[in-house]
Amino acid sequence: MSLRLAERKKELKQERLARIREALGSRCIVLIGLMGAGKTAVGKRLANRLGLAFIDADSEIEVAAGQTVSEIFAEHGEPYFRQGEAKVIARLLQGEAKVLATGGGAYMDAGTRAKIKANGVSIWLKAELPVLLHRVHRRDNRPLLAAGNPETVMRKLIQVRYPVYAEADITVESRDVPHELIVYDVVEALARWLDGETKPDATGGRSKVR
Ligand code: S3P
Repeated sequence: MSLRLAERKKELKQERLARIREALGSRCIVLIGLMGAGKTAVGKRLANRLGLAFIDADSEIEVAAGQTVSEIFAEHGEPYFRQGEAKVIARLLQGEAKVLATGGGAYMDAGTRAKIKANGVSIWLKAELPVLLHRVHRRDNRPLLAAGNPETVMRKLIQVRYPVYAEADITVESRDVPHELIVYDVVEALARWLDGETKPDATGGRSKVR
């Protein structure tokens, strides 16, 4: 490829990213999905690509509480964690546009879903069971999985949560491939979805990448 062509391609890519940022306005890009779906890994790279801040809701909860998620579950129980989670996410949805990775249970709360709808664009990183299990086996910081057989717990969560996650504006399949490829899919899907907002006939306002 000639140097000029390469430069032009780079320019077009930058223009496309700038268009996404403009169409987004002050809304957050909110990543949802089960533990191990890649919300943090993809979110960080996505934010970097778009020139936006990245925030992980679980880390914010930990800072606010001065305890790890596991400690909060152990000392105060899950309902207490959920209350804090809803509060922290409501706060993070305010202000400037950013990429926000949420914990797997956050989107199950109807109030949080409504706030995400009002102040964000939601993207479900949808992954198959083997991908999720493979990823979560690497760490033991997830109290829900520590409470039983991880595969059984994960199957149940898929059953209960996937119909609700399906309400997200955009769905992207999170496969066992380098995270950069998923980021690419997310950018494409986001651009199409934002386009569909101005031209509703184009996508009907929903977007899926498989
Ligand atoms: C949870 C997922 C975790 C964390 C907590 C509960 C869930 O976040 O919020 O352990 O209910 O699925 P990740 O999805 O980032 O692992």
